[in-house]
Amino acid sequence: MIAPRQTQHLSADEAGIAAAAELLRAGKLVALPTETVYGLAADASDDRAVASIYAAKERPSFNPLISHLPDVDAARRQGLFDAPALALAKAFWPGPLTLVVPASDGCTVCSLARAGLDSVALRVPSHPVAHAVLHAAGRPIAAPSANRSGRVSPTQAEHVLADLDGRIDAVLDAGPTAVGVESSIVACLGGAPRLLRPGGVPRAALEAAIGQALVIVEEGGSAPLAPGLLASHYAPRAAVRLDAERPLPGEAWLGFGREPNSSLPALAFNLSPAGDLTEAAANLFAALRRLDDRGPKTIAVAPIPMQGLGEAINDRLRRAAAPR
Ligand code: TXA
Ligand code: MG
Repeated sequence: MIAPRQTQHLSADEAGIAAAAELLRAGKLVALPTETVYGLAADASDDRAVASIYAAKERPSFNPLISHLPDVDAARRQGLFDAPALALAKAFWPGPLTLVVPASDGCTVCSLARAGLDSVALRVPSHPVAHAVLHAAGRPIAAPSANRSGRVSPTQAEHVLADLDGRIDAVLDAGPTAVGVESSIVACLGGAPRLLRPGGVPRAALEAAIGQALVIVEEGGSAPLAPGLLASHYAPRAAVRLDAERPLPGEAWLGFGREPNSSLPALAFNLSPAGDLTEAAANLFAALRRLDDRGPKTIAVAPIPMQGLGEAINDRLRRAAAPR
């Protein structure tokens, strides 16, 4: 489902770093070293580039991704930091900490990377090679771990290639990563900060920096670890009718591929007239939001094939249609 490509093996010198940044700026996929694990990086402001991350990983659902920035100032342009978030950023950035904060008005992280949420996950990694690439790329870079979905996170370029050779444009090889587990994730969304994922910074150190205990969000508990797992985490106000052959009178229409022969309502959008699932994934969250903002009672959605990224698209659409 993704076009096979030649995966370049770049060394972590000046030329390799410049090449990696150039590929990222062109919307390509590059596996990058960070101090935690290798990340599968793409331009976080480019829906299509982000969609190709999910395609390469064969991720079954569009979980929100972490956006990586070269420094605290760049991160603060993307999100709104309350006092605990600022204290954590000052204490642990650059380093293995991710902060989930409300997106700023000027946030350039695309809606697919945010899984349609109003919050954004930000991280300033300490790895010098990651820093150099992020600085040269000059934009937020989305990067989940560079493994195929369901496999363990890679801590060496060889692990990345074992999973993703021929599916990504390059791997930037800086040897084994230091931390080896992913970053700690703390949500600072007003109220007490919550630990969404234990990781590279010990909990006690996080709590010492903010002078209070973190609320622990347990997987499988009432507050899910990852918002991507919530039954209706992106819930449009409109009802959503799936697998619709054509829109009924009064419904908005979200099409895919060839449109039905009946006439379409004024409020209609086609995810990919060419029937390209990567393009459809890139458009999905923004399209749902655009239709929903106009206040229809119901959005009817054309059938989306289940192959490739179609599985993730259908997963997200089912969540959007879930009763609430
Ligand atoms: O160490 C790391 O964090 C690595 C390296 C490459 O930086 N990255 C990584 O990314 O582990 P990923 O995509 O595997 O983890 C993203 C996690 C998911 O559990 C997701 O639910 C959570 O971050 N997340 C992202 N955005 C969120 C948001 N707006 N609200 C809550 N959780 C969010
Ligand atoms: Mg992962």
